[in-house]
Amino acid sequence: VSPYDPTQFRAEATLVEEWVYLDHAAMSPLPRRRRAAAAEILAHHAQRAAPAFPVWLEMVEEARARAGRLLNADAAEVVMVTNTASGLNLIADALPWNPGDAALVSTPDFPSLVYPFEALRRRGVRCAPIARGPGGRLTVDAVDRALRAEPRARLVAVSSVDYTSGALTDLVAIGALCRERGVRYVVDAIQSLGAVPHDVRAIGCDALCAGGHKWLLSAAGAGLLFVSREVWPQLAQPNGGWKSVVD
Ligand SMILES: Cc1ncc(COP(=O)(O)O)c(C=O)c1O
Repeated sequence: VSPYDPTQFRAEATLVEEWVYLDHAAMSPLPRRRRAAAAEILAHHAQRAAPAFPVWLEMVEEARARAGRLLNADAAEVVMVTNTASGLNLIADALPWNPGDAALVSTPDFPSLVYPFEALRRRGVRCAPIARGPGGRLTVDAVDRALRAEPRARLVAVSSVDYTSGALTDLVAIGALCRERGVRYVVDAIQSLGAVPHDVRAIGCDALCAGGHKWLLSAAGAGLLFVSREVWPQLAQPNGGWKSVVD
């Protein structure tokens, strides 16, 4: 579908037959082809069950490769997750923390970004705010001030767009500051991925996560998490399973 051709786009979104729909930033209309693909997988499951498994695994690898191209990342750096919160919880839990460390989070922000870092309280980690300015803007200066106020800050987590005002965050500039200060950098990109280009190398983030149900036009229940190869050696594996190991 061409993003520049509204006729093609409308043909994919059955809901516009009945509604004028303006709530894309909450949940996108599900494209026809997405619904058809899901129906095909369920039919395959019904008809083949276990013998279908290798086909699905190939589909997952293809999805990771495509997500990698979208983000300028390697397919191996992409994890399929169920939503933004699940990906952010995964990276928050996997990173190494010492009691007394702090995580700085854009504030106010959507709970899916804030709570995974607040939950680190159980490991003795403080979650401190990076205050948004007028119009919900998150400036590099605000991040700088928050870092100066919190000498034990180990990580900065921000959303790419303020979900109430729509203010766009300068992800590249904040990434440069994080590198200069030697702190980890995590981005919640659900409010922009699919709508504007994202290059994780240019952004310089350690992790970036987005549920698919907004600008990526996915059904709810699918999302992606990028984790930079550079941080892999420091990560613990919080969840084990038969696909979480390599021979
Ligand atoms: C900044 C931000 N993060 C996350 C979400 C959604 O979180 P999840 O994918 O965990 O449902 C939203 C939805 O409005 C949001 O605005």
